[in-house]
Amino acid sequence: MTGSEGPLAAKAREILIRDEAPQDFDAVRVLVAEAFGGRPYSNRREHLLVDALRDAGAMTLALVAEDRGEVVGHVAFSPVRIDGRLRGWYGLGPLAVLPDRQGEGIGQALVRAGLARLAPLGARGCVLLGDPAFYGRFGFAVQPQLRLDGVPPEYFMALALDGLVPAGTVAYHAAFSEGT
Ligand SMILES: CC(C)(COP(=O)(O)OP(=O)(O)OC[C@H]1O[C@@H](n2cnc3c(N)ncnc32)[C@H](O)[C@@H]1OP(=O)(O)O)[C@@H](O)C(=O)NCCC(=O)NCCS
Repeated sequence: MTGSEGPLAAKAREILIRDEAPQDFDAVRVLVAEAFGGRPYSNRREHLLVDALRDAGAMTLALVAEDRGEVVGHVAFSPVRIDGRLRGWYGLGPLAVLPDRQGEGIGQALVRAGLARLAPLGARGCVLLGDPAFYGRFGFAVQPQLRLDGVPPEYFMALALDGLVPAGTVAYHAAFSEGT
């Protein structure tokens, strides 16, 4: 580590990013609810979505950020369909960091670790619904040929891990739309 990384990187490097484990489930539920609480784009059910994805066996990858034994962040990835077919693409989300730990680089660390873990699983790409100001730094970009119905297109972004962005309409796992 060099002195040029700044205070955010300095704080974030004390954080352990690891696979979630059963003993994390309760803390994850609380942190996701707290992170999304009060956000205008929240449906106040994101914490239930995490449980539903897990219960459905659809959480391909779930990572937690742990700081001295406390779970302070979480990210989930689940398979998406493109024009009805599974094509090795995944949806990132929800992503959550405890409110009083936001702005320390934890969210970025979770995204980067998750993407690094997806590729060896055979993933060809990842999509998400989020703010381009945050996700653009990882290479996510709006790709007009890849659509998600019913959302503002400027917030639906994709990152091809094999360099190829397919065309089609994306569908997240049913847990995202089942009013979990
Ligand atoms: C979004 C979230 C996961 C980011 O995690 P974080 O640990 O706070 O983010 P980091 O510290 O790694 O990154 C901070 C950077 O992201 C930016 N950022 C954080 N949240 C942002 C948001 N909602 N929109 C745009 N930019 C955001 C910060 O401005 C900062 O930018 P900078 O590096 O250019 O200064 C966290 O704020 C959170 O849990 N928010 C509530 C839940 C949520 O919105 N989840 C994402 C839904 S897609």
